[in-house]
Amino acid sequence: MRTLQQSTYEILICADPAELARESARRFAELAEVFTNDVGRFTVALSGGSTPKAMFQILAEKHFADALPWRSIYFFWGDERCVPPDHPDSNYRMAWETLLSKVPIPAENIFRIPAEDEDHHRAAAVYSETLQNFFAEEWPHFDLVFLGMGPDGHTASLFPGTEALKAHDRIATPNYVEKFQSWRITLTADAINKARNIIFLVAGQDKAPALREVITGPRNPELYPSQLIEPYYGTLLWLIDEPAASLLS
Ligand code: 6PG
Repeated sequence: MRTLQQSTYEILICADPAELARESARRFAELAEVFTNDVGRFTVALSGGSTPKAMFQILAEKHFADALPWRSIYFFWGDERCVPPDHPDSNYRMAWETLLSKVPIPAENIFRIPAEDEDHHRAAAVYSETLQNFFAEEWPHFDLVFLGMGPDGHTASLFPGTEALKAHDRIATPNYVEKFQSWRITLTADAINKARNIIFLVAGQDKAPALREVITGPRNPELYPSQLIEPYYGTLLWLIDEPAASLLS
């Protein structure tokens, strides 16, 4: 593992996806202990896609399943595909099957995005209201937000050239993604940037060109939406593997 420390973010380069999964699980556990000891709860927004799966599987193992204060951990999502929660493409389903169904977490601690609602604006509004009620604030302040990044530089469901990139007055918003011919519900960059800690999990050679542009390229969030992630006062950690880091000087 090697670190590249920058003024506003840290890059931690792991040898491979397995080391990345172990390190992300360790960071989750560390923050869970800190926040539940300090404020009695830990609020985390999960990312979707495939990269977090190995981390979820590690957190479901006996060591973490027995040790972590699951009753004080509250789960949310950064984005969701507009499918039912039992659909193979559901981010909720992936997290449920690999982690949440395997640890002693109360059902009332899990706040999934009601993305199966065909009225996508209503789904986003309901989720936003759920967050406002839970945090008892106008905007949520997650203790930790996990994010992934696609080969096109998207994060959550903030895709290049899409409407959600311009949504600055709301917590969550529906977003039509032309290339998938489908709708997503996503937290906006403003809502993500209010988090206390943000961790990007990025693995694989196919992500290297976009990662170089996002981190060292000219500012162009319309083309590389991951550049919108700049926490207002929290920490930003890029947890990446060597292949993904291969074009970073
Ligand atoms: C989703 C995600 C998305 C994901 C990236 C990376 O719903 O798909 O939230 O932003 O994190 O597409 O996906 P992989 O981890 O599968 O590469």
